[in-house]
Amino acid sequence: MSTAVGIDIGGTGIKGALVDLDSGTLITDRRKISTPEGGEPGPIIDAVVEMMSGFEEIDDDTPVGVCFPAVVRHGRTMSAANVSDEWIGVEAEKRFEDALGRDIHFVNDADAAGIAEARYGAARGTDGLVIMTTLGTGIGTALINNGILVPNAELGHLEIDGVDWETVASNGAREREELDWETWAERLQRFYRRLESLFSPELFVVGGGVSKNHEQFLPLLDLETRIVPAELKNNAGLMGAARLARPEETQRPA
Ligand code: BGC
Repeated sequence: MSTAVGIDIGGTGIKGALVDLDSGTLITDRRKISTPEGGEPGPIIDAVVEMMSGFEEIDDDTPVGVCFPAVVRHGRTMSAANVSDEWIGVEAEKRFEDALGRDIHFVNDADAAGIAEARYGAARGTDGLVIMTTLGTGIGTALINNGILVPNAELGHLEIDGVDWETVASNGAREREELDWETWAERLQRFYRRLESLFSPELFVVGGGVSKNHEQFLPLLDLETRIVPAELKNNAGLMGAARLARPEETQRPA
């Protein structure tokens, strides 16, 4: 059995589990702790070390994947749209490795969720280009073509009318502005239409906590492209992080 630990660091919580990569199921219960106040690198790394010390089921060879809401290049965090600015330029992968005393693989959160949906969830078996979108505090996106990830697509920051669109169309914006579903859907419509005209994808997958209410807003969208809710719910990030920790698995179509 091929296994790996996946850890998903978010603005409010850090989740982790040991994942069976063949079936895409969790071997351990999902563990969850609150993200330390301020979300700075030091306290978050300490929290992950504490979480990892609870995994008695793993050995030194078990791969560990960690996902995080930022652009990640060569293990370094390059942006901080909804997290502490102190992450910009941090050698995150190395900092985690030093603290944990083992290798890890560090990736963007939406990329992880997209890979999980492509392999185990709503986009399973879809040929061609799948665009994963996570509607949360921000908007995360992932491009997966025939199962292969093109990393760090930051399409949530697409500018429409000169506006960084995640600031008005994320679920965070919906809550902040107390938008009704129709008004929010009009903003989503412009977003998905733009993505459609730029990429002509086969499928959009819509994740993030609000996707459990998909019946309220997906039917309001008028698109050429099929658009479906994500299936893996809160586990997509950690499952994809676990899978990406085995790079040999990711280089072949999902
Ligand atoms: C960040 C992305 C992240 C997304 C979802 C955006 O603000 O720029 O890197 O994937 O939020 O967390």
